[in-house]
Amino acid sequence: MIRNATFSITNRCNSRCRICNIWKISDFSDELSVSEIGDLFSKPFFESLDTISITGGEPFLRDDLKDIICLINKKCPNVRRIFLNTNASFPAKALKICELCTSLFDETILSVSLDGREPIHNELRGVNNYHNVISLVEQASGIENVKVSLSMTLSDRNCTVEDLQYVRELAKKYSAMFSFRFADTSEFYYRNSELSLTVSDEKKKMVAEFIKENCQDNEFLQILREYIENGKIPLLIDEQGKNRCLAGREFVFIHPNGAVSPCLYSSRTINTLHYRAEKIRLGEKEKCPCCTDCAIYPIIEYQKRKLKKEDKC
Ligand SMILES: C[S@@+](CC[C@H](N)C(=O)[O-])C[C@H]1O[C@@H](n2cnc3c(N)ncnc32)[C@H](O)[C@@H]1O
Ligand code: SF4
Ligand code: SF4
Repeated sequence: MIRNATFSITNRCNSRCRICNIWKISDFSDELSVSEIGDLFSKPFFESLDTISITGGEPFLRDDLKDIICLINKKCPNVRRIFLNTNASFPAKALKICELCTSLFDETILSVSLDGREPIHNELRGVNNYHNVISLVEQASGIENVKVSLSMTLSDRNCTVEDLQYVRELAKKYSAMFSFRFADTSEFYYRNSELSLTVSDEKKKMVAEFIKENCQDNEFLQILREYIENGKIPLLIDEQGKNRCLAGREFVFIHPNGAVSPCLYSSRTINTLHYRAEKIRLGEKEKCPCCTDCAIYPIIEYQKRKLKKEDKC
């Protein structure tokens, strides 16, 4: 049963990020129109959808974003939580859309990318948009029922305790959530397979220490710490080494052309009309396992639901 979908609504992007090559894409001819998006979300495959994460590219570049969100709300009435991911280029539009989302969904989370202190953020993003980030975070944190999250992606340049502390302090200042992940390569999403993004073991150790000291209450970051320290993610791999990731069964990734994949690392598409969960075999064709928030959170939620059910019986 698909509960969680990350939908990249466009590959258009106005940044020039060093770690992500989506901005280099120039052919947008197969991007779904609003009515095609309506058709997609009308399928029974999405009827149990609970959480939608809108991403891109830069999703706020789509002029019809409002229509897309209203349509998803109409076609999938069980969706109660929406994530809006942005590089903060369009603060006024983002604020309006946030207001709209609070009237449609129980939870609205605005996830704003900030990759470190001002010069480093601007350097990594290839555009000077640090001030837009601050302006958006400041204003959005004042909207009732909108949760703001500062989201940092770590590569060699910004994987420093100073940058981590800086973004964490800013999050605190605006009562925002704070999360980060290591930059990774993905042929099918970030289109950056040729990049070498691995940070040194020494830096990873520093990150593990940072999480231990500062992020005790963040379930995903605790798992990331465990992964750095032991090289294992028990949530994804069981004792026998069998993959128990729920990609394609509990959560999916949707490309701008409407192709539905188990996750952003996967080359496979799911036949949403003749869906057979048992056909989704993981780890054979994609790089696996990963340790990204979009995989971990749906599995944490799934386990909580399972425990709740067991408690009742
Ligand atoms: C691809 S962006 C799309 C939304 C928006 N354009 C933005 O930058 O926030 C979604 C998230 O992926 C992160 N990201 C970019 N490149 C990445 C990479 N190579 N590995 C992991 N995360 C990455 C971004 O920092 C951002 O937080
Ligand atoms: S991370 Fe976001 S802003 Fe940067 S190139 Fe990728 S899609 Fe664009
Ligand atoms: S790459 Fe990650 S999200 Fe994708 S199937 Fe493997 S563990 Fe799951």
